[in-house]
Amino acid sequence: MPTFTLTVATSLDGYISRSTDEPPQAWASAEEQALFFRDVEAADWAIMGRHTHEAADKPQRRRIIFSTTRDGWQRPSQLWLDPAQISPAGLPGLVEHVHPFEKVLILGGTRVHDWCLEQGAMDRVHLTIEPVRFGAGLPVFSGQTSGDPVEVFTARGFRIDSETRLNAAGTRYLVLIRA
Ligand SMILES: NC(=O)c1ccc[n+]([C@@H]2O[C@H](COP(=O)([O-])OP(=O)(O)OC[C@H]3O[C@@H](n4cnc5c(N)ncnc54)[C@H](OP(=O)(O)O)[C@@H]3O)[C@@H](O)[C@H]2O)c1
Repeated sequence: MPTFTLTVATSLDGYISRSTDEPPQAWASAEEQALFFRDVEAADWAIMGRHTHEAADKPQRRRIIFSTTRDGWQRPSQLWLDPAQISPAGLPGLVEHVHPFEKVLILGGTRVHDWCLEQGAMDRVHLTIEPVRFGAGLPVFSGQTSGDPVEVFTARGFRIDSETRLNAAGTRYLVLIRA
């Protein structure tokens, strides 16, 4: 059975980005970036939307890229597909001839998070909360009402497994597990 882990950085007011093309490294801490790359290195596959892929194009990485405008293997390790046509149970059969589908990382954005949550494909969350406020931007999930990033997950059935402070600026790192 694959394990689906969402790794996400948010502002204090619950946003993942100020715009659709700004990479997190523009505002996230060095400590967050180190944990992010640890997760990326450990993953068999990453699932992401077209904007997230385009904001950090890495031709060699194993990626499943959600899009309604392109599909198929655009590179040897990058499969584009429309998630409306598939369920999580169908993903291993599409990609396992390239590499096993065991540790799966969810990399955003908002509608990718929505799909994974709705489809029961989000077992674990690595949440970093940076001490910045955006005021507006892209939420973790569509229709998000609370601005508190922890509440965003606890309201959706996750419980806190651990919490660490990453630096003097006050960046928080939480591991949440599906309750
Ligand atoms: N802070 C963080 O941890 C974090 C994480 C991820 C991303 N980001 C940032 O957030 C921004 C991108 O987020 P985003 O929400 O705009 O976009 P995104 O999900 O990366 O890309 C959106 C596009 O992906 C496709 N897509 C995504 N979900 C789909 C679905 N369920 N069904 C069909 N198509 C789907 C569509 O492509 P088509 O238009 O081709 O149909 C859609 O226009 C970037 O700035 C990125 O760097 C931050």
